[in-house]
Amino acid sequence: MNLFIDTAEVAEIREAQSWGILDGVTTNPSLVAKTGRDFESVLREICSIVDGPISAEVVSTDAPGMVEEGARLARLHRNVVVECPVTPEGLKATRSLTGRGHRVNVTLVFSAAQALLAAKAGAAFISPFVGRLDDVGHDGMDVVGQILEMLDHYTYPAEVLVASVRSPVHVIRAAQMGAHGATCPFAVLQQLVKHPLTDVGLERFLADWKKAKH
Ligand code: G3P
Repeated sequence: MNLFIDTAEVAEIREAQSWGILDGVTTNPSLVAKTGRDFESVLREICSIVDGPISAEVVSTDAPGMVEEGARLARLHRNVVVECPVTPEGLKATRSLTGRGHRVNVTLVFSAAQALLAAKAGAAFISPFVGRLDDVGHDGMDVVGQILEMLDHYTYPAEVLVASVRSPVHVIRAAQMGAHGATCPFAVLQQLVKHPLTDVGLERFLADWKKAKH
């Protein structure tokens, strides 16, 4: 199970990386905008922190533009994975970028049908947005289950990277289903490690240790 962090904040990435549990990073235009920093310099810095797939999204909406932008992003570092939306133009761009040897993360996936097309276009990663599906009254993890069941019959190289993760429950369900990975905001990574009984237990151990002979 791969755990990615879904942020463009380098301080969060450095901290998560220091825990020794991080396999990659995903960003998107909204997350990059929040940093107030230049995209390419943030991306270079992220690539210097984590040695794993780093998704960087294109903002062109036509295939030639996505391919040009994606190829430029991929040239910045060997770990850059180009993120393309699952639109007809995004599928064209995915096929073209994949043909040029770049890895593509097909993003904004909300259905098994979209995931199937992404796999056929050559995606290295497929990102179903579970939290946003939950927000509109669906069960995002049901869609993940459909995608995994579907891909299990074939040999597409695509990995399912559960995205728009809002809570540890999404991550645990993803792992139970055998999803290849989940990308989590830093707050969710913190929630994953935190347990009140661990805190209480540690406090008690340390208090008792003070009373022990040593
Ligand atoms: O990587 C996709 C993810 O960032 C979307 O998350 O929380 O904006 O739905 P959210």
